[in-house]
Amino acid sequence: MFIRHEWIEKNAILMLVLTLITVSIGGLVQIIPLFTIETTIERVDGVRPYTPLELLGRNIYIREGCYVCHSQQIRPFKDEVERYGHYSLAAESMYDKPFQWGSKRTGPDLARVGGRYSNDWHVAHLASPRAVVPESIMPAYPFLADKPLDYGDIAQHLKTLRAVGTPYSDEMIANAKADLEAQVNPDLDPTALEKRYPRVVVGKFNGSTTAITEMDALVAYLQMLGTLVRFGDLPPERLRQ
Ligand code: HEC
Repeated sequence: MFIRHEWIEKNAILMLVLTLITVSIGGLVQIIPLFTIETTIERVDGVRPYTPLELLGRNIYIREGCYVCHSQQIRPFKDEVERYGHYSLAAESMYDKPFQWGSKRTGPDLARVGGRYSNDWHVAHLASPRAVVPESIMPAYPFLADKPLDYGDIAQHLKTLRAVGTPYSDEMIANAKADLEAQVNPDLDPTALEKRYPRVVVGKFNGSTTAITEMDALVAYLQMLGTLVRFGDLPPERLRQ
């Protein structure tokens, strides 16, 4: 046995080949099981893809660099949970491409800002942060309220996300434009929209104009952040991850 081992050790190429085989067995044992499960993220009830309006709001959030000052990840520490609410679950950002977790907090974490303020507060705050929070150092984004939302390509947008794994159905894609318009029109019947996107918040987010503006989309996005999972409804074992 040891004599044969000496022979391997003296033959550098053979040693290299056998080492590679041994190491790749170790690697495969770790990697192969991951291919047999559908997702490495444990699913949590309530998490759904973004509505077309929220999705465009998210794009504006990324375009304007809000993530430079705001994280969207509450860590499981007592001080963070007391300040912001339940710590973030992996499943809550499973449809974020790219995710907005971040580690830089010039402003507060926004992972659970949805429903915390009124739409009017958000519109006033984004237009002029110091008008509502005098000590704020956040930049103002008043132009969002005047800029009509460009949503002509929303169906293609959903299709593209489907290609990379977000479960948008044919029905969601076919109705993308109508769903976007329905979310900002409280006079329309929201039943179909709610069926496709449970717990969707409907309303004219930017009350200052009748046109659909970028402000509507951004506020719709902010108002849904962290609201999809109802933590009170879930058994504790579904939350530990
Ligand atoms: C230069 C850093 C900076 C940038 C960029 C920035 N913010 Fe802020 N934000 C802050 C600070 C600081 C506060 C806390 C003071 C305040 O409420 O204005 C804040 C507060 C907020 C709040 C209130 C959060 C709470 O829980 O009270 C929201 C909502 C918000 N920002 C959204 C945004 C959005 C949306 C954008 C991008 C359009 C953005 N911010 C860009 C620094 C920033």
